[in-house]
Amino acid sequence: MKIISSPLELKNYLKNKNQTIGFVPTMGALHEGHISLIKKAKEQNALVVVSIFLNPTQFLKGEDLDKYPKKDEADKKICELSGVDVLFFPQVEDIYGVDEVSMLAPKVRGYVLEGASRPSHFNGVLTVVMKLLNIVNPTRAYLGKKDAQQLNLISLMVKQLFMDVEIVPVDTVREKDGLALSSRNIYLTPQEREEALKIPSSLRRATVMVTRGVLDSKEITSDMREILAPLEIFYVEILDREFNRLLDVEIGNTIILVEVKVGTTRLLDNIWL
Ligand code: PAF
Repeated sequence: MKIISSPLELKNYLKNKNQTIGFVPTMGALHEGHISLIKKAKEQNALVVVSIFLNPTQFLKGEDLDKYPKKDEADKKICELSGVDVLFFPQVEDIYGVDEVSMLAPKVRGYVLEGASRPSHFNGVLTVVMKLLNIVNPTRAYLGKKDAQQLNLISLMVKQLFMDVEIVPVDTVREKDGLALSSRNIYLTPQEREEALKIPSSLRRATVMVTRGVLDSKEITSDMREILAPLEIFYVEILDREFNRLLDVEIGNTIILVEVKVGTTRLLDNIWL
């Protein structure tokens, strides 16, 4: 596995490869969820590039940038063992200069759900993803469905800016008890981890209701809120795949999304129906 930290060196290295390139952007602290993105990228492309870059511009003041888990050596090993061809491992100064040009998230879709409590978060996400896609110039980029709003906004950026990359959504990986994998799960105390199981329970309840023919969004979200109740709830929403609110679940076109705070940790999850 080649490890490159300079954007120009990576661009030059990949320029004349003439092979399909699958790209997995990450912020490190890799887990099985990331490994499933890498696996998918390997299945569909000749070369796989992974980036590890803890992007400061997507963290708001007072968020967890300074305590975000850093596991550089373990991450490199995971990439190597997963068959990654190139690991892009830049420093902040390799990616950002002064007086920066940056992307702006759309005024509606970028400021609802997670964007409502983290205004400007998605400006940072879109800016860094734009830079990374320009550096790697991949055939396909792999993103987890767990961050559904991020996935939606990146897909929108690629479409609206006529970019030449296919965005491939990849299913969420869960622990045996249903908790979605996240680099932030490491912040949870054993008791908080137990409380966090209310998230998959609420999503399971929604699925059961839908399979029994209950499609009314209000009815479903109110049952979900009851399950989640002791936790601080940021949102429980039923949206279509374009992120418009749905009055009734439409099978094949629905995402049910939840974000809560457990202790001091924000956790989000969703199911696609
Ligand atoms: O999902 C993430 O890990 C990050 O938001 C991403 C897409 C790598 C951009 O920093």
